[in-house]
Formats: sequence, structure tokens, C-alpha cells
Amino acid sequence: MESLIAKAKSIQEEALTAIEESKDLSALLEVRNKYLSKKGLVSSLMSELKTVDASARGEVGATLNMTRSTVLKAFEAKETLLHEEEIERKLESERVDITLPGRSLSVGSINPFYLIRDEICDIFASLGFHIVEGDDIESERYNFELLNMPHDHPARDMQDTFYLTNGLLLRTQTSAAQAHTLEEDLSKGPLRIVSPGKCYRRDDDDMTHSHQFGQVEGLVVGKGVSMADLKGTLALFVRKMFGEKRKIRLRSSYFPFTEPSVEVDVSCAKCGGKGCSMCKGTGWIEILGAGEVHPNVLKMGGYNPKEVSGFAFGVGIERVAMLRYGIDDIRRFYQNDARFLAGFHKED
Ligand code: PHE
Repeated sequence: MESLIAKAKSIQEEALTAIEESKDLSALLEVRNKYLSKKGLVSSLMSELKTVDASARGEVGATLNMTRSTVLKAFEAKETLLHEEEIERKLESERVDITLPGRSLSVGSINPFYLIRDEICDIFASLGFHIVEGDDIESERYNFELLNMPHDHPARDMQDTFYLTNGLLLRTQTSAAQAHTLEEDLSKGPLRIVSPGKCYRRDDDDMTHSHQFGQVEGLVVGKGVSMADLKGTLALFVRKMFGEKRKIRLRSSYFPFTEPSVEVDVSCAKCGGKGCSMCKGTGWIEILGAGEVHPNVLKMGGYNPKEVSGFAFGVGIERVAMLRYGIDDIRRFYQNDARFLAGFHKED
């Protein structure tokens, strides 16, 4: 009996020292296996209890239980301690230095083509125009015929384009949206729309020409809509786009779908109208074509030209952007040079 108690004492000592000396959780786990598992040293003491005299068994049993619970408690206390130490260590090693400056995100910028497209539309929207989307792929009917350009019309020569195999083509002008809008407006009542989009022509690319370019088409139809309304609307647009001091000039021109037709110039911002390299010495820069809607176009769209009239215009988006930002080459809009694009931001 003495010897079992003595043995228990020495195992307890040994276990407590081993627990004490465990440097980490895995070492502690090994100690646990050695002493506290089913076949561990502390448990095996219990199995020796049956060799003890029945009279002393109670006392010895109580001592063995004490040994077990002492070792278990020591183990649990050490386990908690090591856990905390590990968390401390992790916190220390993964510490974030909140005084370091943050990494700034590089935010993309919008291509000036789209900045100006949206600005043109915003200006007209503020005047009550609706925005209508057209399609890049068109039929000859909408791109030419309904715009008073029948098959053999010589004006088609200036607008050669890319033809698809199914008889469709890439539209040469957003004016195609005029024909669609007139046709789709079942009320045949007053209309006020702008339609932005891409156009395509078989042009050689140079500083001012691209086989692909953008236009914003405008169309107003109603009772008594006159050239004076066109002039007033465009003068207001130009002032909003280029500044209060800018003037417009209407030059007589020709488009098959407008009569009379005009080309609209804006006074040169660089020289204020005196003449410089930017305006090629004239003091004026052309930005759009316009005119009173031709009666044939109204008729084909289902309107009665004796009752209503209208005006239309087509603004070149790149042209406006080039003037507004002083961009020298139209090809820059399509080259995706990040150094160029980063310079443009939406102005509030
Ligand atoms: N569609 C013409 C062009 O591309 C511009 C225009 C639009 C002229 C509307 C008159 C009216 O040159």
C-alpha cells in the first residue's frame, strides 16, 4: 500500500515537472498521452488498486484520485497558458502598422469621346430632348432611302461604307435614327430627340478622319418649327459646350434630307475670331451639319409636311472633343494610350 502511494507521488511529481517544462501545445499533448490517456501512467496506477488490501483500498483509491485530478488540473492550466501565449505570438507577428500610408487605388478614367458624347446629350436633355439609341448595323432603306437618298443619288458616293454579306451595312450617319424615330412615333405629334452613336465610312484614316467616328443626331418636329429655332438651339448648345463668349455662323450647304441645309461653324476659341493656325486663318471651325427637315423625309415618315415642320442636325463627337480639349489627332481616341486617357475627367 505504501509503495503504491509512493509510486503515485513520484509519478505525480514527474508529470507535474513534464507539464511545467512543456514549451508548446504539441509537447504538452505528448505529456498528456504519457500520463493521462487510457493506458497512461496515472491510469495504470488505478489498475494496480486491486492488488491493495481491501481495508486500505479506500484510502489508497482516494490518494490516486487526488493524483489524477492534480495532474489533470495542472495540464489544463498549462494548456490555457500555452493557448494564450500562442495567440499573443500570433498577434505580435501579424501586427498591422496602422500608421503606414494606405495603398491608393488607381481609378480608370472615361475616354474623352464618351465624356463629350454624354455632355452633348446632357445639354440637349436639359432642353427637353429625349435620348434615342440607334443601331450600328442598318439597312440601305434607313441609312439612305428614307433620308431622301434613293439608290442612284450622287450624294451616296461621299458615304461609301462597309457592306455586310446580307445586304445590310454599317451606318454612315446617325441620321438613320431620324427615319426610325419618325416611323416609330405613332402619334405623329411633336418630337424632340437626340441620338448618339458610332458611324462608319470608307475613309482613309488621317489626323482628322477615321473610318469610325461618333455623331449625335438631333431631330425636332412640330408645328411651325423654323430655322430660327434651329439657330437658337444650336447657339445655346455651343455656349454651354464651349463657353458663353462663343458664337455660331451658319453657312449654306447641301444635304439630301434637309432643305435648306447649313453647316455650322463655331468661333475659334484660340484666336477669338481673328484667325490662327487652329482655325486655318478663318476665325471659325465647322462642327456640324443641319437644316430644316426635307418635306420628303417627313412624308416618308408618315407626317404631313403641310402641317408640321422640323429641324435636324448631326454633331461630330470627336470634332467637339478635339476642340474642347485641344486634341490634335482623331486617332488618339482609339489608341487606348493610358497616358493620354488619364488626362480627362468628368467636370462637375
Ligand atoms: N448626316 C449628316 C452627315 O453625316 C449631318 C446632318 C445631320 C446634316 C442632320 C443635316 C441634318 O454629314
